Amino acid sequence: MELEEIINARHSTRAFLDRPVPRETVEKLLMLSTRGPSAINLQPWEFTVVMGEERLRLSRILVKSMRERNISCGPGAVRPLQEYFMERQRRLLDCIQPYLEQGTPFQDFINEGSCNFYGAPAAIIVTIDQVFSKSRLVDLGIAVGYMVLAAHNMGLGTCPIGLISAFADEIKNMLNIAEEKDVVIGVAVGYADTDSPVNQAVSERAPIDEVARFY
Ligand SMILES: Cc1cc2nc3c(=O)[nH]c(=O)nc-3n(C[C@H](O)[C@H](O)[C@H](O)COP(=O)(O)O)c2cc1C
Repeated sequence: MELEEIINARHSTRAFLDRPVPRETVEKLLMLSTRGPSAINLQPWEFTVVMGEERLRLSRILVKSMRERNISCGPGAVRPLQEYFMERQRRLLDCIQPYLEQGTPFQDFINEGSCNFYGAPAAIIVTIDQVFSKSRLVDLGIAVGYMVLAAHNMGLGTCPIGLISAFADEIKNMLNIAEEKDVVIGVAVGYADTDSPVNQAVSERAPIDEVARFY
């Protein structure tokens, strides 16, 4: 498949088949993800792959904590968002809501779904050593970008799950991740349930003249 075709066809998967992803497939996916560039080739990314029963156990912990602490998916902004960002957020809701079961509030679907990795058999937890400044998060973002594209090319669906960073303590505790690591993001990985209505939702993008300037 041409790269342009992969980029245009990929979108986040929010319903997965109950079909395990073989370990070798995940290893290949990580190998392709880590072909991405990183500053001084430091490769600051670290991955913890959680599959099968352990993935279910992790989700039980996340759902419990999400409910107890009333955590919700949000933009992670430090100030109120400008109107055009709010508009993009509304447009995402408008694009997904019609595909949800009647009466399912969007925020509940996203919160519960994210903690459950939308039923994906594998969750990849991406961490970074606290020795690095936040500049190095760029490198992790690139690896996740490669990951979602490589996965699509391998016939796998993905959904990045930023919400899990709110549960860093619980995740580190369950997965024996060292104290000096930060949990940055998770990625749900599995075979997309292509018949599921929610997977028919395709998000929009702002036109280039809204996000770029040329001199
Ligand atoms: C850093 C990051 C964090 C995200 N966190 C979540 C999340 O916690 N839950 C979720 O359902 N989707 C999450 N997403 C997926 C975005 O909602 C999705 O990429 C966006 O709506 C664009 O849709 P698309 O991926 O289908 O093109 C995240 C994506 C990124 C890049």
